Amino acid sequence: MVSPSALLASVAPDFLAQQPQRPSAEQIELHDGLSDSPAHIDPKFLYDALGSSLFTAITQLPEYYPTRCEDEIFQRHGADIARHIGPVQALIDLGAGDCVKAERLFASLRPSHYVPVDISADYLQAAVRRLELSYPDLAITAVGQDFSRAIALPSDIPAERRLFFYPGSSIGNLGPDDAYAMLRRIRDACPGGGLLVGVDRVKPRHILEPAYDDALHLTAAFNLNLLRHVNAVLDSDFDVDDWRHVAVYNNELSRIEMHLEAQRALRVTWPGGQREFRRGERIHTENSHKFTPQAFSNLLLSAGFRDVAQWSDARGWFSVFSARA
Ligand code: AVI
Repeated sequence: MVSPSALLASVAPDFLAQQPQRPSAEQIELHDGLSDSPAHIDPKFLYDALGSSLFTAITQLPEYYPTRCEDEIFQRHGADIARHIGPVQALIDLGAGDCVKAERLFASLRPSHYVPVDISADYLQAAVRRLELSYPDLAITAVGQDFSRAIALPSDIPAERRLFFYPGSSIGNLGPDDAYAMLRRIRDACPGGGLLVGVDRVKPRHILEPAYDDALHLTAAFNLNLLRHVNAVLDSDFDVDDWRHVAVYNNELSRIEMHLEAQRALRVTWPGGQREFRRGERIHTENSHKFTPQAFSNLLLSAGFRDVAQWSDARGWFSVFSARA
């Protein structure tokens, strides 16, 4: 005779398998964004493993000037920038990625503690292993965290003389309210410390638009790859061939907008949802805000920073700001 517990064990897996799975927070966010009018998808979905590699390739394109301009600023004005910042204990690197940008500051800032923060903990681990070998005296605490909503640092990070480093004009990917909220969070996390931040400047459309729509179509691949990432997360059936990359400068809002445009009337479905798109209808995937030095300086001051200093490249296309909290 089969015992009741053995019977339960034999039926339990089937029973469990039939339980409907709850949608994850990311699936809910995607469902809501795709159901909105106009449809939108958060730019964080640009960065799966392939998207991150595509972005690294984009930074080497002749059209994509921000990375080179920022490098030039650190090369030309590094000593001056380090003087303005003063002594640093903990260098906190927001969106650290491969940690290469922060590593270039180690010699001039001489931090005792380095804290790379990135949404992709796996990517960070490889970079940190490399740094540990090259800088045996540097304490390193890697933090895998989506810092776009909150900054929560481990308790062993020195509270004194913290410098937040937020390069690459990533702050421009936030809307004005979110950028202000992010700056306030940073300021609150480094009393007596400071912020070093890279910011892309307003410039003519004929320079901006090719930077986001390059001749090799790498940025198009970067944008379209988001649909593959969404398919993986949401189990949706986007066909990349049905969509076209669009990048336009919105002069009124001082931002490059990236969209994906339907090439024909089509329907996209996913578990629990679907959406019809007309030919030419767009999904908004990213904003990249551009600032005048005055506007960004005002934003820093309004978020509670003081002693704001700014350096630029020779063409005046990009700015690095240092400010005290
Ligand atoms: C990461 N971020 C600062 C880039 C930018 O320029 O806004 C992302 C990017 N999008 C298209 N090309 C690069």
